[in-house]
Amino acid sequence: MTAALQASGLSVRYGGNLAVDGVDLVVPAGKMVGMVGANGAGKSTLINALAGWSRGTPSVRGTVQLAGQSMDALPPYRRAERGLVLVPEGKGIFADLTVTENLALVKPPSDTTGRHVFTMDDIYGLFPRLAERRGHKGGMLSGGERQMVAVSRALRAAPKVLLLDEPSAGLAPRLVYELLATMRKLVDRGLSLLLVEQNVRATLELVDELYLLERGKVVSKGPAAAMKDDPRILEAYLGTLTA
Ligand SMILES: Nc1ncnc2c1ncn2[C@@H]1O[C@H](COP(=O)(O)OP(=O)(O)O)[C@@H](O)[C@H]1O
Ligand SMILES: [Mg+2]
Repeated sequence: MTAALQASGLSVRYGGNLAVDGVDLVVPAGKMVGMVGANGAGKSTLINALAGWSRGTPSVRGTVQLAGQSMDALPPYRRAERGLVLVPEGKGIFADLTVTENLALVKPPSDTTGRHVFTMDDIYGLFPRLAERRGHKGGMLSGGERQMVAVSRALRAAPKVLLLDEPSAGLAPRLVYELLATMRKLVDRGLSLLLVEQNVRATLELVDELYLLERGKVVSKGPAAAMKDDPRILEAYLGTLTA
């Protein structure tokens, strides 16, 4: 079966720094894949490269395919139109616009054949907390609420594959679990998801497969259940994982 998303030999170099080093990655359709690694391991660089996006002007090599179609020549907005949608690190929602206005900025693509289109009601059903705060300005929201807006905005683009960069950053543990559990619910309804995280514990509990990234390289991967016993993951649990 064709993977929802497949990257082969993906490398990203900033000058002399090879931030992502020959990564092979598969997100099977309807599955949730986690990529964990320490600060500076290359997680953001990798997930941005999948979306066709970068900070600065690195040199990118390798191939990215969405449902078997090459994305390599496409800029980020074209990849998003095809259904490869990134929620970048750091959220970036508009402080002066309300929750509803922030969400309304994103229109579903004109052709949504075979894709789930999320109405405002769908989104407020998934995130009741946002429904309560729909008239509040972005700048008044908590970190968790802002993250929910960022994810919801991506859902408005009717993704086939959602790329999430560290949604748990800065959130209270209970909110982390709630947000990731909501993501799991979407996957169980057919979405394919790649989650990049530093929070190994919460990620392991919810994903189907886990990759461990160290200094830009995949050093271990497998089904989540098996990865729970991987010594390098145990190290990460103990908080001794360093970049
Ligand atoms: N725009 C950039 N220019 C130069 N180096 C960068 C840039 N962005 C990231 N890097 C470097 O790439 C490596 C990986 O960073 P990053 O992908 O942000 O890691 P992570 O998301 O895992 O914390 C680091 O060594 C970082 O300093
Ligand atoms: Mg990062």
